[in-house]
Amino acid sequence: MDFARLWLGLLLPVVAALDFRYHHQEGMEAFLKSVAQNYSSITHLHSIGKSTVGRELLLHLIDYLVASYGKDAEITHLINSTRIHIMPSMNPDGFEAVKKPDCYYSNGRENYNNYDLNRNFPDAFENNNVSKQPETLAVMKWLRSETFVLSANLHGGALVASYPFDNGVQATGTLLSRSLTPDDDVFQHLAYTYASRNPNMTKGDQCKNKRNFPNGITNGYSWYPLQGGMQDYNYIWAQCFEITLELSCCKYPREEKLPLFWNDNRASLIEYIRQVHLGVKGQVFDQSGNPLPNVIVEVQDRKHICPYRTNKLGEYYLLLLPGSYVINVTVPGHDTHLTKLTIPRKSQTLGALKKDFHLPFGGRLDSTLESDPSCPMVPLYKLRPNQSAATKPTLCVFFLTLLHIFFK
Ligand SMILES: *[C@@H]1O[C@H](CO)[C@@H](O)[C@H](O)[C@H]1NC(C)=O
Ligand SMILES: *[C@@H]1O[C@H](CO)[C@@H](O)[C@H](O)[C@H]1NC(C)=O
Ligand SMILES: *[C@@H]1O[C@H](CO)[C@@H](O)[C@H](O)[C@H]1NC(C)=O
Ligand SMILES: *[C@@H]1O[C@H](CO)[C@@H](O)[C@H](O)[C@H]1NC(C)=O
Ligand SMILES: *[C@@H]1O[C@H](CO)[C@@H](O)[C@H](O)[C@H]1NC(C)=O
Ligand SMILES: *[C@@H]1O[C@H](CO)[C@@H](O)[C@H](O)[C@H]1NC(C)=O
Repeated sequence: MDFARLWLGLLLPVVAALDFRYHHQEGMEAFLKSVAQNYSSITHLHSIGKSTVGRELLLHLIDYLVASYGKDAEITHLINSTRIHIMPSMNPDGFEAVKKPDCYYSNGRENYNNYDLNRNFPDAFENNNVSKQPETLAVMKWLRSETFVLSANLHGGALVASYPFDNGVQATGTLLSRSLTPDDDVFQHLAYTYASRNPNMTKGDQCKNKRNFPNGITNGYSWYPLQGGMQDYNYIWAQCFEITLELSCCKYPREEKLPLFWNDNRASLIEYIRQVHLGVKGQVFDQSGNPLPNVIVEVQDRKHICPYRTNKLGEYYLLLLPGSYVINVTVPGHDTHLTKLTIPRKSQTLGALKKDFHLPFGGRLDSTLESDPSCPMVPLYKLRPNQSAATKPTLCVFFLTLLHIFFK
């Protein structure tokens, strides 16, 4: 299948810089190969869609980022301080099935085996019995291979930035027709950051016969519940905050419109990438200075149903808005370490607060920490009582198809 070829193809040779046309499989591969070759020191591309607009935007984003490196100080700084993964097409078969522009095409959403990939992930709220597709399994594997912190997936068919959850239970607020995460303030901020810089999205009502979204953002569940989506999967199992960007009323607009879309989305995309530097990050060490993996590091009162843990290097990342928090650092089976910290209202750019933790442990912890802590891929919320800390009242609001960008 094309998929595997595309993923590896990035290490091969060349063609030309990017024009505003739709790029089918061959053209896209050629472009990505060219970028990987010309900018080998700063690019790190994987590729594994339904949204034709999103796909082109991501190709232009790549073009813009690499071409600005060393010329635009802000972009250079952003690239220097961020690992950016851009996956222009998760579903190559889907795009190839759509031969010409059409606002309401229905074929193209499924992969070659007729599965909708954005209903194909494990679900935290109910059993998702749909058989897992190779694309889905590959993405799930890839998500385990890196510590992703922030991501977005790009679709077409509406104009809105939608944030988790897409599915829910009473404990996440479904009686009130929504489903909120304990990080709802951060998610609203992320969605608002994107939508407010996109002139049509922010109006909230630009697609005829579609719902009006105040400020151009919405909770996924309150728009329409869906099972097996990637957004909820990433947040729960991959420790990665993801929002869904619906970028065009028309799913497959005419080619002449592509420059308009790029203009409307460029500032949003760049500003969204910068948000990966929100909050606090650091490493957890034992008393001899060895990094400790699999240590639970979370904010008190924002417990994730699948606790967020340090990676192999002992690193953690917590996306948080400015404010005071108590950080709970716990080696399972041992004492909890609580630390108060304040994330400043900052003007400095790209500055997550850095905070390392040194725990009074030696090597004897190895067995605890190396045991596989991964959360079972079952409906975790089913196991929870109805009233859970997961629902917090909303403090309203200041503020790829699966096409994907991941940031670390
Ligand atoms: C890569 O470099 C070649 C040779 O200079 C150039 O023709 C091509 O347009 C470049 N590709 C990109 C994507 O910048
Ligand atoms: C980015 O990194 C390069 C290579 O390490 C360095 O030369 C350059 O000064 C950095 N630029 C910025 C703006 O951070
Ligand atoms: C899905 O799988 C679960 C567990 O295997 C089973 O209990 C349930 O009946 C299945 N649901 C459907 C709709 O097939
Ligand atoms: C944004 O809205 C304006 C006015 O309705 C329209 O002309 C323009 O094409 C829209 N932009 C995009 C990218 O669709
Ligand atoms: C800290 O986190 C651990 C692991 O999630 C949890 O068991 C413990 O109750 C938490 N402690 C406090 C005081 O929140
Ligand atoms: C949770 O709510 C459901 C639906 O109202 C109810 O059937 C169930 O018994 C409740 N569970 C608990 C633990 O209260």
